[in-house]
Amino acid sequence: MAVRDQPFEYTAHPARVLFGSGTAARVREEVERLGRSRALLLAGPAVADAAARLADLLGPLLVARFDGAAMHTPVAVTGQALGVLRNADADCLIALGGGSTTGLSKALAHRTDLPQIILPTTYAGSEVTPVLGETADGRKSTFASPDVLPETVIYDVELTRGLPLGMTVTSSINALAHAVEAVYSAQANPIVDGYALDAIAAIARALPALVADPSNTAHASAADPRADLLRAAWLAGTCLGSVSMGLHHKLCHLLGGSFDLPHAETHTVMLPHVMAYNAPAAPDAMRRIADALGVADAPSGVFDLIVAANGPTSLRSLGMAEADLPRAAQLAAEQTSPNPSQLGVEGIEGVLRAAWDGSRPVPPTVPAPLRPSLDWLTDQVVASFDHTPDPRVRQLITGLVRHLHAYAVENDVTQEEWQYAIDFVTRAGHITGDKRQEFVLLSDTLGVSSVVDVLSNSRTPGATPSAVLGPFYVAGPPEIEPGGDISGGLPGTPLWVDVRVTDMQGKPIPDAVVDVWQSNEDGFYDVQLPDLDGPALRGRLRTDDAGRLLFWSILPSAYPIPDDGPVGAMLRAVGRHPYRAPHLHFMICAPGKRRLVTQLFVAGGEYLDSDTVFGVKQDLVVEFAPRSGPTPDGRPVPGPWRSLDFTFQLAEL
Ligand code: BEZ
Ligand code: FE
Repeated sequence: MAVRDQPFEYTAHPARVLFGSGTAARVREEVERLGRSRALLLAGPAVADAAARLADLLGPLLVARFDGAAMHTPVAVTGQALGVLRNADADCLIALGGGSTTGLSKALAHRTDLPQIILPTTYAGSEVTPVLGETADGRKSTFASPDVLPETVIYDVELTRGLPLGMTVTSSINALAHAVEAVYSAQANPIVDGYALDAIAAIARALPALVADPSNTAHASAADPRADLLRAAWLAGTCLGSVSMGLHHKLCHLLGGSFDLPHAETHTVMLPHVMAYNAPAAPDAMRRIADALGVADAPSGVFDLIVAANGPTSLRSLGMAEADLPRAAQLAAEQTSPNPSQLGVEGIEGVLRAAWDGSRPVPPTVPAPLRPSLDWLTDQVVASFDHTPDPRVRQLITGLVRHLHAYAVENDVTQEEWQYAIDFVTRAGHITGDKRQEFVLLSDTLGVSSVVDVLSNSRTPGATPSAVLGPFYVAGPPEIEPGGDISGGLPGTPLWVDVRVTDMQGKPIPDAVVDVWQSNEDGFYDVQLPDLDGPALRGRLRTDDAGRLLFWSILPSAYPIPDDGPVGAMLRAVGRHPYRAPHLHFMICAPGKRRLVTQLFVAGGEYLDSDTVFGVKQDLVVEFAPRSGPTPDGRPVPGPWRSLDFTFQLAEL
C-alpha cells in the first residue's frame, strides 16, 4: 500500500455544496447569503425549462441572462457575456449547465471577481476544480487559480434527469476517468484515494442500473442511480482539482483540441486503453480500482461497463482518421506529464491504435506459478464417474468436467463471475416455456448449434448442407396441396417456390415429406403473433413423381432473434446485433435417406456476413429471382414477385 504508508501533500479547495433532490429551490437563499441582489444567469438553450424555473425562483434578484456559452470557453464569447454583465450591473453569477457554461462562469469570475453559484447538469466536474481553460485564436490555454472556484455548488439531482442516456454514459465515464487517474496519480494521497474509489464504485453500480431502467421507475423505493452519479461526479471533480492527471487526460485534451473529437465520447473510448497501458506500472492502483469496480481486471472491466451501457468504444466510430494516429502520438510524446508508464511515441501510438480499433483490452493472465494447480481436484471429479455404465455418457460428462475446470482455471474465474453465470442460466430457464426456448438461442448465438450441425452433417460431400433448426419449428404443420399457398393471406412480395429433391446421383425422390417455415414481412413467425388465428407461413408438402414440389409464399425478411431475455442482454453487452439473414427453412424426410434440416438464404439479403447464429453457408445462399408478369401457374399477381428454384440432394442413411 505505497500510497497509505508514505508522507503526502493535500490541498483542499473551499467548496460549499448543497446536494440533493430539489436543492435548486434554494438558489435565492444562496444569493442572499452572499449579500448579493443582482444576478446574471448563464444557461444555454438545452436547459431552457430549468432556467425558466430558476428565473421564477429568483424573481427581482435576476437582472440579466446570457445563453451563448460555447465549448472550450472562447474569449470572444466571454467578452460578449462580460458586456451583458456590465450593462446589467450584475453583482453575482449563476451558472446552470454543463462544462461550457461552468467554464464561462469561471472566466467571468476571473475577470470580475464576482461570486458564483453553479448548478451542474452533467458530470464534467469542472465546478469543483480551480482550473480555467480558454481558447483564443484557436489555441487553448489553461491556468489554475482558486479565485475561479464558485462560492456555492448546488447539485440538484432533478436537474440531471433530462440528460439523454447517451450523454449520461459518456459524461459518467468522463468523471470515472478523473477518479481513475487520481488513484495512480504522481500526487496520489489517501484523502483523494477515498474520494476516487468511492466515485468509481458508485459509477460502476449506478450506470448499469440506470441503463436497465432509464426512467428510474423504481427510484421512490430503491437507490437513485442519478443521485449516485451526481455525487460521484462531484467526488471525481474534486480529485481532478486536487492531483495531477496522467496520459489519459493529456491524450483526450490533445484529441479534442487538435483533432476536433468530442470531449466526453473521447474520454469514454480512451479510458480502458490508457488503463491497460498503465496497468503493468501501477499494479496496486489497478487492483484497488478493480475492487471498487467489482471486477477482476480494471481496464477490461471499464471496457465492459462502457459496452454494457452502449457507450462508444472506438476512435474510428468518433470519426478519427487512422492516418492521423502517428501524428497524434508524436504530439502527445512531445508534451511531458507524469504518468505511471513511460510515454514513448511507440507506446502512445499503440494505445491510440487499440482505441482506434476499439477491441477489448486483454486482461493479463494470472502468472502460472501463482495459479493453484487443480489437476488433483479435476481427476477426483472425473474418477467419480468411473462406474457410469454407458461409456458414451461417461465420455461426454467427464469431458465436460475437464473443460469446465480448465475454463475456470485458465480464466481465473471469480466467485462473482461464476454466480453471474449461474444467475444467467437461471434467467434463461425462467423465460423458457412452450413458446420460448432461450437455451436454443444461447446455443445458437454461441455458435455451438452450428458446430454440432457441421459435425453431424458434413460427412457426405455433395449432399445439400444443413443449417440450424432454430426454435420456431412446430411439429405437424398443416398439409398443403401442390401449388398451394402457405402465406395464410399475410402481406408481402409473392414468392413462387419450385424445388426438387434428389438422391446423391441426381435421381428424383418421390413422396419425400417436406416441412417449410419462415418469418413474415415484419420478421415474425406465426407463433410470435398472439393475434394470429392458427398456423401461417408454415406447411407440409410432398414431392411428386419427379421429386418436385411447388408452392406460393412470400419473400422472407431479416429479423432479430427474440432479444428481450438474457441472450439479448448478452448480445448487447458484447456489442453484437441480434439479426438473422432472411431465409426459408426446410426439413426433408425420405425413406432410406438422412433427414435434411436446412435453410435457403436470400442472395443480396441483409446480415448474410454477420448472421447472429452463424447459420449462413455459401452453398445455401441462392437467388430469390425478381420477376413480374405472368406466373408459372397462371395465378394473377399484379405487381412484382420472386421465384426460387433449387435442388436438394439427400445423403444415404
Ligand atoms: C430461426 O432461423 O428460426 C432461428 C434460428 C436460431 C435462433 C433463432 C431463430
Ligand atoms: Fe428462421
